[in-house]
Amino acid sequence: MNPSQPARLVVLISGTGRNLQALIDAAERDDLHARIVLVISNRPGVQGLARAEAAGIATQTIDHRDYPTREAFDQVLGDAIAAVEPDIVALAGFMRILTAEFIRRFEGRMLNIHPSLLPKYRGLQTHRRALEAADHWHGASIHFVTEELDGGPVVLQGRIAVEPTDTEETLARRVMENVELQIYPAAVRWMADGRLRLRDHVAWLDDTQLQTPALWPLEESTEDSPTP
Ligand code: GRF
Repeated sequence: MNPSQPARLVVLISGTGRNLQALIDAAERDDLHARIVLVISNRPGVQGLARAEAAGIATQTIDHRDYPTREAFDQVLGDAIAAVEPDIVALAGFMRILTAEFIRRFEGRMLNIHPSLLPKYRGLQTHRRALEAADHWHGASIHFVTEELDGGPVVLQGRIAVEPTDTEETLARRVMENVELQIYPAAVRWMADGRLRLRDHVAWLDDTQLQTPALWPLEESTEDSPTP
């Protein structure tokens, strides 16, 4: 990363793009310390693409159905990403399982957001599973993408209390609004600032090994904090 330039960020999406929008908004506020240079969707015509276009960001659609194998798709996807030389690749609701070869290409630069308190509930239907288990807490996690599905080192989590009246929909909405949209820009900024790193399969924030994920809201003092 060149410290005099904002980090170059590629965002991969498959759908609505609310997390993408949070990254766009943070970048526009100069809060992300990164420039979104490309948004790629594996599904044509999704709302996330329209959000990127409205913000003047380059987009590409690479429809996985046009490729005979997962490997063929991942090769084309990886080449499109590599072509814009990103410092960070953010999966934001990107609903494809990636091959080990693809992941190795971008390992250490690639983050994902997952709507559960990992290691709980890898995979799909996370809100339903949290309700069925009568969990008191639920939330979302940002993790480095490694070859294990939803299994790379978790770097940042935010949680909310599950209410007795919660349904899958109300829980999903609160996790999105109160957690997901807050934590992704924060984690991307850590990466952009060179503070967050993956070394030997372990996440480091500044000089600290993240044995457990950082918790949102963060209590760290930043340079922007007013001096007393
Ligand atoms: C989010 O809940 C994300 O955590 C999950 O898929 C959803 C994507 O939503 N992986 P959006 O596209 O960001 O609106």
